[in-house]
Amino acid sequence: MNRTVSNPEKLTAIQEGILEAADRPLAEAIALPAEAYTDADFYDWELEHIFKKQWLCLGHISQIPNIGDYINLDLLGERLVISRDQENQINVLSRVCMHRGMDLMPDAFGHSQHGNRRSFICPYHHWTYALDGTLMGAPEMDNNVGFEPQKCRLPAFRSEVWEGFILLTFDPELESVTTLYSGLLPFVGHRQMARMEMVANVQWDCQFNWKILVENFMEPYHHMGAHHKTFEPLMPAAGTWTESETAHSITCHLPLAKRIVEDTAAYQKLIEFYLSPELKPEDRQEYAVYLGEPTFLLFIGPDRVYWYRLQPDGPDHMTLNTTLLVLPESKQAENYEQCLKDATESLQRFHLEDMEVCTAVQAGLHTSRYQSGPLSHLEMPIWLFQRYLAKRIRAACPSSFSP
Ligand code: FES
Ligand SMILES: [Fe+2]
Repeated sequence: MNRTVSNPEKLTAIQEGILEAADRPLAEAIALPAEAYTDADFYDWELEHIFKKQWLCLGHISQIPNIGDYINLDLLGERLVISRDQENQINVLSRVCMHRGMDLMPDAFGHSQHGNRRSFICPYHHWTYALDGTLMGAPEMDNNVGFEPQKCRLPAFRSEVWEGFILLTFDPELESVTTLYSGLLPFVGHRQMARMEMVANVQWDCQFNWKILVENFMEPYHHMGAHHKTFEPLMPAAGTWTESETAHSITCHLPLAKRIVEDTAAYQKLIEFYLSPELKPEDRQEYAVYLGEPTFLLFIGPDRVYWYRLQPDGPDHMTLNTTLLVLPESKQAENYEQCLKDATESLQRFHLEDMEVCTAVQAGLHTSRYQSGPLSHLEMPIWLFQRYLAKRIRAACPSSFSP
């Protein structure tokens, strides 16, 4: 990171292209310049001015319900462990030993990405850390007069829990998640997401830029193409609509087809998990997609929440986890196991459709003749996302661009 910009003129041209797209009215909206998805300098710029300056969602509290539970996660060059300590507090710690820099739980040593432990023991020289990162023991260190165990704790990253989700920021000055994502609360605040449990988690190796995934996730226009067999009959693209612009978040409604809402048997077929009595009438009749900028993606239906975790690691690559969360009452249903199996298969099926188009789009953006095409009004979330990117560019380079 912080590598020298190899082509400053090209970087500026990409940023100006984004501003030009974002400043158009919706009726004249166009896609971003292809280089915004392929250029290494612009990706490095995003690391510094987007990912290092915003909140990034790491997990859900139901993944570490018990004291000693942990998840390992590599993100933007950091090796993290998210742990629940003896005080029942959640910590987001560096997983790198404060002795000589060993990863405390390297994959190559057979460590799984999650589990339960009383402490973290470095495999190299057996320094031992408590679940909150305190150094508890370091053998044969008494002769080093400068050794102060309290100074050797695992560094903690700034984190917050919002509606059951664990988020991290590298920016000590950033406003709290609660403030920044307040625009989402009227839609999701009553969903009891903090009570939900993650019941499916599928990992994908993605050969495309992170923004392709965000845009694909947020725009329902592609139901009529990529999902014409899966989503289009349930949530027809033409009936979808997007809330007007709010700071830090985007909301797009995907109403269920009239024939499903009006047919009890068809509607029941769609509901596989527990329906909360807290739901508002409109919640029962739609799915909706939400973005907490830049990458906190939620896809919420009457009986479920899908949350996607993004780990970008280059302009052309990221790792993605697609997860499913439901209320715990769902498990009491006799047919719960079958419902979960069906829902997990459905998640894989529709996401495979998204994987195919996203991968093909990335390939297309590398070709020579493509130029930013016009957007449909059904792609309003993409236009709003462009306006978010433009704000980040203007905040980072206030004097370089005219307002
Ligand atoms: S590097 Fe961890 S104990 Fe030496
Ligand atoms: Fe999709």
